[in-house]
Amino acid sequence: MSDNAKLEFKGEVYELPVITGSEKESAIDITKLRATSGLITIDNGFMNTGSCLSSVTFLNGEKGILRYRGYPIEQLADKSDFVEVSYLLYNGELPTKAQSDAFYADISKFASLPDGVKNILNQFPADAHPMGVVSSTVSALSCFYPEFLNPEATDEIKEKAITQLMAQVKIIMANFYRKTIGKDPVDSNPALGYSKDFLNMMFDGEIDDEVASALDTLLILHADHEQNCSASTVRVVGSSQANIFASVSSGVDALWGQLHGGANQAVLEMLEEIKNDGGDYEKFIAKAKDKNDPFKLMGFGHRVYKNFDPRAKIIKVACDTILEKLDVQDPLLEIAKGLEQAALKDEYFVQRNLYPNVDFYSGIIYKALGIPTNMFTAMFVLGRLPGWLSQWKELREDKVAKIARPRQVYVGETERNYKDISER
Ligand code: CMC
Repeated sequence: MSDNAKLEFKGEVYELPVITGSEKESAIDITKLRATSGLITIDNGFMNTGSCLSSVTFLNGEKGILRYRGYPIEQLADKSDFVEVSYLLYNGELPTKAQSDAFYADISKFASLPDGVKNILNQFPADAHPMGVVSSTVSALSCFYPEFLNPEATDEIKEKAITQLMAQVKIIMANFYRKTIGKDPVDSNPALGYSKDFLNMMFDGEIDDEVASALDTLLILHADHEQNCSASTVRVVGSSQANIFASVSSGVDALWGQLHGGANQAVLEMLEEIKNDGGDYEKFIAKAKDKNDPFKLMGFGHRVYKNFDPRAKIIKVACDTILEKLDVQDPLLEIAKGLEQAALKDEYFVQRNLYPNVDFYSGIIYKALGIPTNMFTAMFVLGRLPGWLSQWKELREDKVAKIARPRQVYVGETERNYKDISER
């Protein structure tokens, strides 16, 4: 029996090859379908379209599985650290001690920003949204490092891009935050370790190890998520051979929206709204179910996870731990838990397999760490950088990768003749 799929259309049968991945997932290869049958496929939101073969991250939404390079997220969150996970995503294997040290030494080489970038940062108004600041400044980096503009950049240069962006994006974020509170920037001190250095640049004081470790775990949980909206954007932009900064900057913009990374800010604002409204979360569940109301339960639902989001499970536990450690009594946590319980029992959410996602509890942790609400999505950027860079590297090393260029079904006017303005 042939392993090909068959498509019958107007009496003709077209054979389509089926590709099977290492986790036995199968995909019909329709690349040549238009040439043989004249048909294209249409798939709103790419709900059922694979855009590439990838060996970075495996995700099974029905079973709630997430693995980076084969390693379960639960093990990485428990045992690894963000720098090691970034190395793993980018290089495919866990580093030896020497490799990990060398990787971090490379990150540490970029412990400052060019003066021109500092000047640009200073020009943003203090109330600018941090995502706009990060996106523009990452894009601006391309003007200061022209060696990255060559599409045939060597491995050495590509390697530099991940270490450079991992170092400089956190400086950009912390420096801008300092500006918003009217304080001078704090120099990066890589000897503190990745997450502690970031917190030190933000808050300029003794940073507790457990607090830094909680942030590190959050960054690990956000590090990659296969072909999501922002990673796909990075790949689409990179597929034209645009430079790494342009590609990552577009990823930042794609992440900003509240259906994607922007949900973490939206969740906190929603919880505040529920609190200020008297804490009646049933009322907000009713609003989320009402098809005439645009309100959605932020932090709930996922395109791929239809059972539970394994990242949300880990974050919920981390949230309890960190709030206890910092002795924070946040009424928003109680509202979040109540809302979750009520939604999980509700027929509407049960039928649609809507569960809390990674963004539901992360904001409560960020808030406890002292990070302002409008900076939450930029925190997601910090975590997601190694994922975007690994997806970009994989794309650029893929010998058969093509420029991303979907087709469409045109539904506009058919040909008509131009009318002079006096006849319209
Ligand atoms: N509140 C209320 N109803 C919802 C929600 C929600 N949060 N999410 C989905 N639904 C409903 C939706 O209205 C639809 O109902 P019906 O079948 O009656 O039309 C059904 O569930 C299926 O939803 P969908 O919008 O078709 O699903 P999607 O895969 O296109 O969207 C999503 C996924 C994440 C954009 C969506 O669930 C959502 O908007 N969630 C809230 C925003 C959010 O938390 N985003 C963060 C995602 S996790 C971080 C990341 O990786 O980006």
